[in-house]
Amino acid sequence: MRQIWITRAGAPEVLQIKEAPDPEPKAGEVRIRVEASGINFADILGRLGLYPDLPPVPVVPGYEVSGRVDAVGAGVDASWIDRDAFALTRFGGYADTVVVPLGQVFERPAGLSALDAAAIPVNYFTAWQLLVVMGGLKRSETVLIHSVGGGVGIAATQLAKHLGARVIGTASAAKHADMRALGVDHLIDYRTEDFEARTREITGGRGVELIIDAVGGESWKKGYRVLAPTGRLGLFGVSAAVSSKERSLLGMLAVLAGTPWFQFNPLSLMNANKGVFGVNLGHMWGEVDRIRGWADQLLDLWRQGVVKPKIARSFRFDEAAAAHHFIQDRKNIGKVLLVP
Ligand SMILES: NC(=O)c1ccc[n+]([C@@H]2O[C@H](COP(=O)([O-])OP(=O)(O)OC[C@H]3O[C@@H](n4cnc5c(N)ncnc54)[C@H](OP(=O)(O)O)[C@@H]3O)[C@@H](O)[C@H]2O)c1
Repeated sequence: MRQIWITRAGAPEVLQIKEAPDPEPKAGEVRIRVEASGINFADILGRLGLYPDLPPVPVVPGYEVSGRVDAVGAGVDASWIDRDAFALTRFGGYADTVVVPLGQVFERPAGLSALDAAAIPVNYFTAWQLLVVMGGLKRSETVLIHSVGGGVGIAATQLAKHLGARVIGTASAAKHADMRALGVDHLIDYRTEDFEARTREITGGRGVELIIDAVGGESWKKGYRVLAPTGRLGLFGVSAAVSSKERSLLGMLAVLAGTPWFQFNPLSLMNANKGVFGVNLGHMWGEVDRIRGWADQLLDLWRQGVVKPKIARSFRFDEAAAAHHFIQDRKNIGKVLLVP
């Protein structure tokens, strides 16, 4: 098999293809011949040495794949062989062959392409947890979605519109026309405009009921301020920690310095009628059975045309470095994939 390794922390060029013997599925596992692997922003953080969960380098990153099952381990029903599937991987997804515990594998319905399926697990499970499970988004509420043009942002937009909410999104200006066409009601270029002031303006001073923010640092501070009474702020990442294509701690230090360590204390939350919560799908491995329930609901929404993965671009394995450049250059509108 071929895998893409992060050989050391650094620029996208540290991503290198290496060959290895095909893995054999152990008890309870299936082997998937991969047709597409999802790239996530966490992989960028991992490549830069800024992601504490990633095992030490050298390491094969990657949280999700789609493809076809070609072997099963002891205890797994042999009828899985030859089924189309997609899966969450606990790292190791940048590979043309993976073995995964069956609990993390989802059957791919007819009509769901391998590319679209690889764009579902991380983006849609995260958006679901943020908006539905923890954010409790309701009809006629307003949600502020940061990085609305990214994989999670577009998934969240589709779910929020389905729930009947109004969507305000932040994104680089070049994405605004496309994002408007994808249903975002109001767009803010957070790189040249103050999103706090613009959000107040858009909502007539009231603020928003839900914010999902993976930018981090100062952004969380402003977000908390712009929550309406009963508003909830969902924290789920620190994109702002990425300040360079080379390893650098400057962005992370800025995030830490800007983080509102003391603003969200119990008394202020209570008196302001606001909520703050966190989401990290990568720490949900003990909840896989619940996530399977989310997958069922999301696949139903896919059948209804609500869940519509948007692929920004697919890159071949030998273009993995270019794929990471593409994301760090903020060019992606939607999901970026690797195709063996
Ligand atoms: N906690 C979880 O379980 C979880 C799961 C999935 C994702 N996340 C987090 O959610 C965020 C979005 O993830 P994603 O996979 O949807 O992103 P993505 O598709 O890779 O989108 C990347 C976009 O992020 C924006 N961005 C913001 N700050 C940036 C920076 N410093 N450098 C480069 N781009 C930056 C850029 O768009 P604009 O310039 O248009 O803003 C860029 O195009 C990330 O922070 C990620 O770690 C968390």
